[in-house]
Amino acid sequence: MAKKIDPCTLVLFGASGNLSRVKLMPGLFRLDAAGRLPDHMAILSVGRGEVSREAWQADIKSMLDAKFKNGYDKAVFDRFIARNHYHANPPTDPNAFNKMKTSLSDANVFPQNLAYFLSVRPTDFAPIVEQLSGAGLLDESKYWRRVLIEKPFGTNLPSAQALQTSITKHLKESQIYRIDHYLGKSALQNIMLTRFANTMFEPIWNNQYIDHVQITNNEILGVGDRTEFYNNTGALRDMVQSHLLQTLALVAMEKPKDLSPDSIRAEKIKLLESIRPLPVNEIHKNAFRAQYAAGRVCVADGHGENVAGYLDELARDGVTESVTETYAALKLFIDNPRWKGVPFYVRTAKRMHEGNTAVSIRFKKAPMQLNNEQHQNWLTLNIQPRECIKMEIESKIPGLDIATRTLSIDGPQRQQGDESIDSYESLLLNLMEGDSSLYLHISEVEAQWRLIDPIVKAWAEDKSSVHQYRAGNRDPEESSVIFDSKDQFWRYSIELGGDKH
Ligand code: BG6
Repeated sequence: MAKKIDPCTLVLFGASGNLSRVKLMPGLFRLDAAGRLPDHMAILSVGRGEVSREAWQADIKSMLDAKFKNGYDKAVFDRFIARNHYHANPPTDPNAFNKMKTSLSDANVFPQNLAYFLSVRPTDFAPIVEQLSGAGLLDESKYWRRVLIEKPFGTNLPSAQALQTSITKHLKESQIYRIDHYLGKSALQNIMLTRFANTMFEPIWNNQYIDHVQITNNEILGVGDRTEFYNNTGALRDMVQSHLLQTLALVAMEKPKDLSPDSIRAEKIKLLESIRPLPVNEIHKNAFRAQYAAGRVCVADGHGENVAGYLDELARDGVTESVTETYAALKLFIDNPRWKGVPFYVRTAKRMHEGNTAVSIRFKKAPMQLNNEQHQNWLTLNIQPRECIKMEIESKIPGLDIATRTLSIDGPQRQQGDESIDSYESLLLNLMEGDSSLYLHISEVEAQWRLIDPIVKAWAEDKSSVHQYRAGNRDPEESSVIFDSKDQFWRYSIELGGDKH
């Protein structure tokens, strides 16, 4: 059921950037088309350059045209465009935030509840909050003020804590919305519902029945034009630190006492804090990294395309060496009674043979073993591109002999006519509703960095050459060094089981 949204103004910093053009503006437009924006809602885009309102509105039109190739409703467009305003905030102008305050004070144009979306460079988060505060734009005495901080929240534990210290001089925790767009994905939200809104899963969701869990994000894409960012970041910080650890938390957490933001986040915090830090002196048995080499990947329509290796891409930018990983796999254990002894394999890679994000759960061997060919049960919660729940069970092959084969029961989550909501759309709505359940609490961010920092450090210090895998291939064989037992192997998308690659 739609929640009530107060009249409000969304102040969008970094409005001309890529995220805004590709996701935020089209997302807000779709929310408007779906009737989810309140009548009294304005969008104030803030940018460095002087741009007239008309020119900005024309630019928004070009963003929508690029996104909605089949056109859009004229009446919705007129309504949406009328909500949009622009404010120039040149970095050289010491008075810029006071001028913004003057513009915003026109209550006929701008509803006075203010949500700030900071889609800017991470180094700008703290200064913007400080300047908003200096101009009195965070004062909640009459209306609410919320600040959404894009990722990454820090680049390690100390920098995350420094950012936290600096913004909490001006903001209460309840005003801060730390985003991880994975939490806005419907299939990710479904993990919790699958577990707790059904009776059949909970009794088997533990170390008595589960052999291991794999949380996988594989992409066909390479690092693209983000070489500089990526080379300073790496797969571990880019994907594992938040997106995949959050997925793990939803798979493994205990049932929250209710669905309030505080209760959900309290359980996720507990879980994240009970993941055992990797023993740094045994890192090579628990973590594996690699970089893609040149190869051939599958693009649209099943066609192949030759692509360059990661180091070649860096060389074009004049970078001659790098140990930054584009493939990262970890083995994690959770120190609580439910999960004692169950390995959680978390992996992410660019330039793989397929793009797929999934949670794959393998169950222990069945009590009756008919022969060596019998497969163990798998349950897959596929996140993207297909959202589905798939269960593999052994079943008798009809006929005179006693033999089994694997049946795959595949439940597509998405059915014809279902809303297709982009993760940013649901998160933007939550921001305006004041619902922070799908945003990160600072304790989650800290627990995540606490786990990742020692591995980043150990890998950065190890200058031996990094393993290479051919673009377009499956996981490098060598990554299996982290498996707990010889019969474990990487699962891929939703192909039928078979205990083999
Ligand atoms: C981003 C990472 O946070 O998530 C990218 O910076 C990655 O490197 C992206 O490609 C993946 O998001 P999604 O929603 O496409 O799975």
